[in-house]
Amino acid sequence: MSDASSTLTIALTKGRILKETLPLLAAAGIEPLEDMSKSRKLTFETTAKGVRLLLLRGSDVPTYVQYGAADVGISGKDMMLEYGAEHFYEPLDLGIAKCKLMTAGIKGETLKPGRIRVATKYVNVAKRFYAEQGRQVDIIKLYGAMELAPILHLADEIVDIVDTGNTLKANGLEQRDFIADISSRLIVNKASMKMKHQQIEALVSAAKSAITAQ
Ligand code: PRP
Repeated sequence: MSDASSTLTIALTKGRILKETLPLLAAAGIEPLEDMSKSRKLTFETTAKGVRLLLLRGSDVPTYVQYGAADVGISGKDMMLEYGAEHFYEPLDLGIAKCKLMTAGIKGETLKPGRIRVATKYVNVAKRFYAEQGRQVDIIKLYGAMELAPILHLADEIVDIVDTGNTLKANGLEQRDFIADISSRLIVNKASMKMKHQQIEALVSAAKSAITAQ
């Protein structure tokens, strides 16, 4: 659990998701007391009494929420698919930071038959996807710049999120198979949902109204 007290701790994802999350929180009456994108701090008090924000990497948000270090988290569905959604509740699709999880490879190149190498940071997602396709793969874990892997023959394909498609295009790659639609989700620690039910319900309901109003 986060605090024995009634403080509500919300873990946010830094980067592009943050920009789209802050207006939704503001509509729910929660605004950080300082500019989160300019500060080096990782925790922020807010205009809402007893509500504190954390600024994390998206891949760490599910961990903080599962173990109750944060009561609530906001991060991409890609992170939930990779982490395993059974560890927390996921009551709300915020409908922001929309993109797709795709496979991609060198433009115009046909995938060779048999076993292939796939570079990705979404190891679990990729394993599941290729197993469903009946394709044997060796997964190579990378932490970014996945687009380089096919070009340098490190991998035959990559699994990554695609938004505008500009990064693939700029590197001579093309989208191949669709894996999942992605958007940011609000997730809740299972114990917090019971212990801080009123605060969390109020937050979810305010966020829902803000989404509808947009
Ligand atoms: C993501 C993703 C692609 C890019 C896709 O990276 O890994 O590289 O965005 O966007 P596009 O289709 O609009 O070009 P991001 O910039 O989030 O950085 P990351 O490597 O740290 O995830």
